[in-house]
Amino acid sequence: MNIRLKVWRQANTTAKGGFKKYDLEEISPDMSFLEMMDVLNDKLEMSGEDPVHFDHDCREGICGTCSMFINGRPHGPQRGITTCQLHMRSFKDGETITIEPWRAKPFPVIKDLVVDRSAFDRIVQAGGYVSVSTGGVPDANEIPISMSTANEAMDAAACIGCGACVATCKNASAMLFVAAKVSQLALLPQGEVEAKIRAENMVAQMDKEGFGNCTNTEACSAECPKEISVLHIARLNREYYFAKQSSENISVREEVHEG
Ligand code: SF4
Ligand code: FES
Repeated sequence: MNIRLKVWRQANTTAKGGFKKYDLEEISPDMSFLEMMDVLNDKLEMSGEDPVHFDHDCREGICGTCSMFINGRPHGPQRGITTCQLHMRSFKDGETITIEPWRAKPFPVIKDLVVDRSAFDRIVQAGGYVSVSTGGVPDANEIPISMSTANEAMDAAACIGCGACVATCKNASAMLFVAAKVSQLALLPQGEVEAKIRAENMVAQMDKEGFGNCTNTEACSAECPKEISVLHIARLNREYYFAKQSSENISVREEVHEG
């Protein structure tokens, strides 16, 4: 395949960025998208040009670092996969592929396609943890949890913190990310200890970081590589309500949970 790349180049956070065009020849359709980027960088280095900076680590859909907009979509044209799981056979011979960083104020560009997603870390630090000792596998097996609840918690825990939900949202809302992090703990008994403060603290940190509000367009879920459901946002809203109410009337949570 012969392709043309239009890649966002930006020297640092404050520098003015812009697109640069690069032509690549004889790219295998079976190459992964990141391998194609490696070919580009080899070529740039050979010619003495600064390689394109992009984040990557696991290259198997786990770490969530390979975040980039490809032809106007986070993680490219295929549903339910990350950029590192994308292959060049998803594009046509002769195609121009536009590659951009996540564009959201709380994710400032560090260089080229690398953005600072430490805002997510601070949201998790605000409440995305449990303080109880959860023990090892035998201890976990001692706590009876229904299969449907375990599956739902696991679905939420699949969030890899990539930030595609924020980047694709017209409001740069982080609600799907926060909802996944709250949900995975709210569904399990191990998450009960911090349940009264978790949602409130995480939402407060989300607001402080400058993420926008959710207006139910559901683009986040449609573009999420782990297909996290917006139903988790409903649970986040409910947990937030309980957190707000808990200091006044703790029994509200118990009544609804029992119901
Ligand atoms: S909810 Fe989906 S899109 Fe958002 S950070 Fe998690 S995995 Fe990425
Ligand atoms: S490099 Fe880890 S998810 Fe893509």
